[in-house]
Amino acid sequence: MNSHDLKTDSVALYQEAIAQVHALLDEARATDDREPNAMTLATADARGRISARTVLLKGLDMRGFVFYTNYDSAKAAQLAAHPQAALCLHWKNLRDGIQVRAEGVIEKASVEESDAYFASRPRASQIGAWASLQSQTLAERGELDARVDEVERRYAGQAVPRPPHWGGYRLVPDMIELWFGQRARLHDRVCYELVDDVWTKRLLYP
Ligand SMILES: Cc1cc2nc3c(=O)[nH]c(=O)nc-3n(C[C@H](O)[C@H](O)[C@H](O)COP(=O)(O)O)c2cc1C
Repeated sequence: MNSHDLKTDSVALYQEAIAQVHALLDEARATDDREPNAMTLATADARGRISARTVLLKGLDMRGFVFYTNYDSAKAAQLAAHPQAALCLHWKNLRDGIQVRAEGVIEKASVEESDAYFASRPRASQIGAWASLQSQTLAERGELDARVDEVERRYAGQAVPRPPHWGGYRLVPDMIELWFGQRARLHDRVCYELVDDVWTKRLLYP
């Protein structure tokens, strides 16, 4: 096989992986799952301590998996120190249970992308993005309510701009694994992995 064929096959495999995740998300959206795009995001700090939390998958294409958050949050500090992450989606009620895992490097989404997504959010969420000092100590709930009131007054009668400390991150995958629950715990696992710049596909023992 020449290098051109190898490259074409590699892109085709990656396209297949992304298309599969899209198809599964669509399937999950058709179930009664309240948060079909909720995913666990694991990050590590500079010393290797791991944190995990749920975020919502808001974009998926050949560039990777996008989620939005506060750039001053604990996760953002971890991602600045260690720009790699892992994510995991789990749909309990889809077929016999399906899990999608992805790992890779993290980059910030473009300003245009974050602006466009922020503009599409409900106004209350936009206000919340300004009011919340995500992951910082909150002395009492009333302090947050007061901050919300202040932001509402500030932007009364006008559009709420995107806060500079709020935007997207993109996980650019070098590994995507699809896990399909099967009988007797003999589950199907399909692993797409970037090896020496070429996407590969193999099955894994359950
Ligand atoms: C279903 C669900 C969806 C969530 N989606 C997001 C999200 O998209 N972005 C976000 O910043 N936090 C989201 N959160 C809150 C995070 O889990 C977490 O509490 C917050 O981001 C602070 O995390 P950190 O201190 O590690 O930065 C979500 C929580 C749940 C339970």
